[in-house]
Amino acid sequence: MARALVIFASEEGQTARIARRVAEELHRAGVEVALRDLARHGTEARLAGYDGVVIGASVHFGHHDKAVARLVKEHLAILHTRHTAFFSVSLSAGGPSRDAAAARRYLEEFAAATGWKADLAASFAGAVRHSRYGFLRTLLVHLSLRRSGAPESGDHEYTDWAAVTSFAEAFARRLQAPKRALP
Ligand SMILES: Cc1cc2nc3c(=O)[nH]c(=O)nc-3n(C[C@H](O)[C@H](O)[C@H](O)COP(=O)(O)O)c2cc1C
Repeated sequence: MARALVIFASEEGQTARIARRVAEELHRAGVEVALRDLARHGTEARLAGYDGVVIGASVHFGHHDKAVARLVKEHLAILHTRHTAFFSVSLSAGGPSRDAAAARRYLEEFAAATGWKADLAASFAGAVRHSRYGFLRTLLVHLSLRRSGAPESGDHEYTDWAAVTSFAEAFARRLQAPKRALP
């Protein structure tokens, strides 16, 4: 049975939800899955014991979480020998502030900054959750997201769950073929 690690960083919870769904779909496809939150497990997380690694991160102020970039850079050698997938979560990827060019640029900039091009990469629309923002974040969201057309109150989820399922299924299919021999 193939083994996969799904590791993510999430500030307001949507990337965590998507990572959980990816893990559930991989499990359904017969993959043995471990799900890890980078905030709890740190960049020293062990990647070596898996046939495949899925990494998820959300975008805030134009950038993915720095800890995710650090994780990738620290494990480049291992990632190059495993089946890998990356998913980016943002409001540019879908919803009222959709900006496909920006969503694509986030993926390209992450690949350029880390030197890692995942076998499979996707951008998923995230969520706006005013109920989870503190005072400062509410202010920042009003300043930064308002101009883009995102709602100014309430909680709104834009994630295309069918696309998340297809992504996980595609990765499960890749895991069936050997990439390179594990050391
Ligand atoms: C303060 C703040 C800044 C954000 N900046 C961006 C941005 O620059 N580009 C973008 O496409 N989405 C941006 N977003 C939207 C987030 O990527 C989206 O809400 C996502 O669902 C957050 O994922 P998380 O819940 O896993 O942290 C921002 C959201 C917040 C709250």
